[in-house]
Amino acid sequence: MAVTFEILHKDIAGRIGKLKAGERQIKTPALLPVVNPHLQIIPPAEMKKMGVEGIITNAYIFSKSKEFREQAETRGLHDVLGFDGLIMTDSGSFQMMVYGGVDITNEETLGFQKKIGSDIWVPLDIPTLPDEPREDVISQMDITWERMKQAKEIFGKDAPLACPVQGAVFGDLRKKAGERAAELGYTYCPIGAVVPLMEAYRYRELVDVIIDAKKGLSPGACVHLFGAGHPSMFALAAACGCDVFDSAAYALYAKDGRYITPSGTLHLDEMTELPCACPVCRSHTAEELKKSPDRQKLLAQHNLAVTLAEISRVRAAIAEGTLFELVDERCRAHPKLLDGYRRFLERMPEIAKFDCSSKRRFFYRGSESCLRPEVSRYHEMVSRIELSSDVLIAAGGPVPSRFAEVAEFKPPFGPIPYELAETWPAGPAEVPTWDEEMVAYGIKGLKMLLAENPKTHVTISTTARWEETFRREFPEADVFI
Ligand code: GUN
Ligand code: ZN
Repeated sequence: MAVTFEILHKDIAGRIGKLKAGERQIKTPALLPVVNPHLQIIPPAEMKKMGVEGIITNAYIFSKSKEFREQAETRGLHDVLGFDGLIMTDSGSFQMMVYGGVDITNEETLGFQKKIGSDIWVPLDIPTLPDEPREDVISQMDITWERMKQAKEIFGKDAPLACPVQGAVFGDLRKKAGERAAELGYTYCPIGAVVPLMEAYRYRELVDVIIDAKKGLSPGACVHLFGAGHPSMFALAAACGCDVFDSAAYALYAKDGRYITPSGTLHLDEMTELPCACPVCRSHTAEELKKSPDRQKLLAQHNLAVTLAEISRVRAAIAEGTLFELVDERCRAHPKLLDGYRRFLERMPEIAKFDCSSKRRFFYRGSESCLRPEVSRYHEMVSRIELSSDVLIAAGGPVPSRFAEVAEFKPPFGPIPYELAETWPAGPAEVPTWDEEMVAYGIKGLKMLLAENPKTHVTISTTARWEETFRREFPEADVFI
């Protein structure tokens, strides 16, 4: 019955994993589309054919529905929804809080979720909204914690329970919530109440919230980002360590006539082309789709297809070791995503602890690439190399044969002594024509190496473009072009 999570590959803090709940299993990162039993715009059986392995639905809606409550209690959720994959149920506490009062207890909702045969149950947590005062957040978190203890006592330690991690935008509280989840032995942990951050494009704070929660959680816990369903942010959230996403965006946006792309959302009415490879877009022109009587359903199918494709792309990037490039690409789509990405780079020293990818690609994509962990790790590594007494640093200029030792200068890494020439990352990295920023990082690496080799005589061979820079930075060295 228990929920288990096995990590198969890692890249940055992103992981490819296998999530098992009872007999059911899904690959992660995963998207669980939100299914509302009353408006199944895409029936779950059809979603399954599109590659959906798991869905999420709202237990509160089932419990309040004349039509569905009894059916779910007698036939079970999987039969009622016509879906034999993984079904997670949410207690609906977030929706109850946003749309009205709570008239159900923790024990009642969990008992109901168990009764209808849900694979993962969510207790009645209290979502802590971003702009609430700290004292309120603390007392709300305490209630959630009590309910998580109660859930284990009533349903046993192996019950398939999710443990929401709250704490609003207070880093220490998010971390504490993560620690409490870990202490109670929870392995499936959704990060809660982040919808308002995402709706307001507060990606910078979202990155902080995820990283802070992860600091408290057990590294082996499966992390779900509650309510995250826009594909433009999957790569960034996965790189911060999120494994599962859920969203109603595919359906909500379709209702509003909005067309999702991996880099943003367009209004169908303003489109002249359908730039996508999904079956809907290949079998309709933009005009046909606008006028179709099935427009909303077709748009939902497209929206879900591109969302699922992005999840596959994120999994592929983690498996190949190219998640950094994907994050960099996606986060250029909106200035607020770029803000989130820059925050992620600022917090790289903390994130890099989770990172142990061995096969990795390093394509220099602009100044942000200088902040990748490979660069700082290389600088530490290169400073441990012992140089001979007379070394040529080949920084783009001629390489005369009279030097016993030659080290290529390759920014943003810096010098590549022959010991490191073939090794990851400096050797295989692909860099374009140098820019100021990367050269500054390369110089930092060269200074670190020279500081540890004070007796070495250094000659730098460069080009007219960088001569002045090297003369200024290395007054002790012979510089020629
Ligand atoms: N859906 C989106 N956010 C939340 C949350 O904080 N808690 C629960 N239970 N569901 C959510
Ligand atoms: Zn499409």
